[in-house]
Amino acid sequence: MQARLSSATDLTGFRNEARELLAHQVPPDQVHWETQQAVDTDLFAGPAQGSDQVRTSKGIPRAATAIVPASFLRLCEVVVLHSDPQRFSLLYRLLWRLVHEPTLRNDPIDPDMLLAQQMAQAVRRDLHKMKAFLRFRQVPDDERPGEVLHVAWFEPAHHIVEAVAPWFARRFAGMHWAILTPERSVRWDGEKLAFGPGGSRDDAPPADAGEDLWLTYYRSIFNPARLNLPQMRKEMPRQYWDNLPESKLIGELAAEANERSAAMIEQPAQAPQRRIPRPVADDPVVTLKQDGIHSLADLKAATMRCRECPIGELATQSVNGEGRLHAPLMLVGEQPGDQEDLQGHPFIGPAGKLLDRALEAVGVPRDAVFVSNAVKHFKFELRGKRRIHKSPTQREAAACLHWLEDEIVLVKPKALVALGATAARSLMGHAVAVTAERGKWLERADGLKVLVTLHPSALLRLQDADREEGFAAFVADLKKARAFLDKHA
Ligand code: URA
Repeated sequence: MQARLSSATDLTGFRNEARELLAHQVPPDQVHWETQQAVDTDLFAGPAQGSDQVRTSKGIPRAATAIVPASFLRLCEVVVLHSDPQRFSLLYRLLWRLVHEPTLRNDPIDPDMLLAQQMAQAVRRDLHKMKAFLRFRQVPDDERPGEVLHVAWFEPAHHIVEAVAPWFARRFAGMHWAILTPERSVRWDGEKLAFGPGGSRDDAPPADAGEDLWLTYYRSIFNPARLNLPQMRKEMPRQYWDNLPESKLIGELAAEANERSAAMIEQPAQAPQRRIPRPVADDPVVTLKQDGIHSLADLKAATMRCRECPIGELATQSVNGEGRLHAPLMLVGEQPGDQEDLQGHPFIGPAGKLLDRALEAVGVPRDAVFVSNAVKHFKFELRGKRRIHKSPTQREAAACLHWLEDEIVLVKPKALVALGATAARSLMGHAVAVTAERGKWLERADGLKVLVTLHPSALLRLQDADREEGFAAFVADLKKARAFLDKHA
């Protein structure tokens, strides 16, 4: 007996055929299951076509309904996505046996049931890997001049494209994207999903500029002392490496890991070199606001000595803002990080690189703006030899506020950009719900406008799947600052 299904994942068709076969007492070993290839002409031409259409190959009237546990139906939903051509035979055999062998429901080690569960597990793993390891690259969108289309190539092990596409549509709702796989492809235009035939790796775009940034970040967070290759291979099996830009770094980083960790162990504890001048008897710790500040150099000298909160005591040096006086826009972060503290310049570590990349994306050169921080010293916690960033408390940020206000008075920007919650609170004088207010212009009591957005470090902490979208939203926020510059510069 032939049972024909309209596509590789035609669950509705399977249910209808199985119901009829069962009603006509057709045993599983007499059924041959056949699936048709999904027929789509063009990925970019219109909505998904006719999956789940019922073909009644036997022309016999529908008969009685088989009562099976709901858990079996849920199992079928997942197992039909498996690539094993025998999946429908297995499911029909299980259905047959559930009806004819009531004890099967309570047999935890039945080989057919175990096999189906393993197949479901493999499909779930494949779904998870596709969500975690798919990487979009940008290409100009032929259908929308001036806009980008995000395109990704992926090779799933099972027939999961239709099942996973709604997840990507929810996750990247605001982007236009297409996912190409050898078997199916899908495109999202911001409103609906359109499925089409498969493609080849050559249809996918080559690496784009965003990838360099990601590689720089990956290299900077790679900790050789924590390298565990078996665990890494388990989490990120080799079959996905071709699609992962960071995979080309892994061999090199792994090869030098032993040497690098040995060198780290050999090194004496790294006490940052202290450059803060000790206060002398007639040069008391600065406590008076704006005491004698006439220039950025005065401000630097004063913040170097500042001990109005405990952070300054441990930092290497104060890190003040940099850029030109009268820059129309001043960007304010939280506090210098490890690299900034050692080198004495703001936003030069991974967060700074991301900021630079975003500024580049909106066409604002970094030297056209003034970049600073709400807090002028690096607050950290020593863990072993590593200095781990700690957010400043409200009290610490408040103690530093007058230095930031001095900087604003000296630089005289036309508008401010608050990067994250600490900066927003310092600049506005009250807590700001950054997620709700991002992309909006607020106004300070002195009339200066403040554009609120996320801190670039928050983007670096995002999961792979979210990073692209997060970066795009950050750039969209900064575009508003650019629009302001165009109007007022
Ligand atoms: N994060 C900040 O807020 N400022 C810097 O300068 C670097 C990282």
